[in-house]
Amino acid sequence: MKTLEDELQNARDALVWQLEEGIDECIGETPMDRFQQALPPAAAEARLGEPNSGDTAPPQAVSRHVTSRPLEPPVQIARNIPGVQSAADLASQCASIAHLEEAVRAFDGCPLKQTATNTVFADGSPDAKIMFIGEAPGADEDRQGRPFVGMSGQLLNKMAASIGLNRTNFYITNIVFWRPPGNRNPSTGEIAVCLPFVERHIELVGPDILVPLGGPAAKTLLGVQQGITRLRGKWLSYQTSNMAAPIDVLPFFHPAYLLRSPAHKRESWQDLLIIKNRLASGS
Ligand code: URA
Repeated sequence: MKTLEDELQNARDALVWQLEEGIDECIGETPMDRFQQALPPAAAEARLGEPNSGDTAPPQAVSRHVTSRPLEPPVQIARNIPGVQSAADLASQCASIAHLEEAVRAFDGCPLKQTATNTVFADGSPDAKIMFIGEAPGADEDRQGRPFVGMSGQLLNKMAASIGLNRTNFYITNIVFWRPPGNRNPSTGEIAVCLPFVERHIELVGPDILVPLGGPAAKTLLGVQQGITRLRGKWLSYQTSNMAAPIDVLPFFHPAYLLRSPAHKRESWQDLLIIKNRLASGS
């Protein structure tokens, strides 16, 4: 027969399991589909673009003006996901980083904003030569409104420090500006609706070197299908139609992956040395 202590232990085990699955926020006592509530039109449209939403219209592929040296152009990305056009119109009007930040904070077209506590825009120096781009804010970032302040961020800071970089001489952001609930991966629609802002962000910062952290960031920026294991450690390039010249790109393993698989820190050390040598050469 189950004792009270057994029941309590079961409840504790269930809570621990939920925490391990990333269910770390109590939003309400009963489940609620927030997306059934009135959403701003662009957000509702971006949700339609999600892979499992039942919206089966095939995405219309449009060239993104992105080149990648060892990979085959032209690179294509779905551009007909609803909400993307309004994001693109807004982003194209932003003439400064401050203006872009204001536009992102005011933008209601990404459904992730509905469940996030804060908009996580960027950190570091916008005058830096090197710009890191991660995947999505986690719980710590959502609480503080700054990218890479949790455990991954601490590892990234250590990696950067090993080659003389810190947040006064690098810049950092993510491919989405709001935390996906429970740290799930951002959907295709959520990424697509943030992408015009991310592209404008890169244009306005104009770094010499762009470092996507992890597969989702690298694939999104480069518009390729290859996994991070194949992409990392290779110089690629990125260019939008508003850029006079391409920017060099060196994809890295995501620090969260390195925390889970420390054996791969060795390859990341090689990648850091590539950056260090490149910065030292001044080219
Ligand atoms: N992981 C990311 O990709 N971005 C953050 O800001 C934090 C963790």
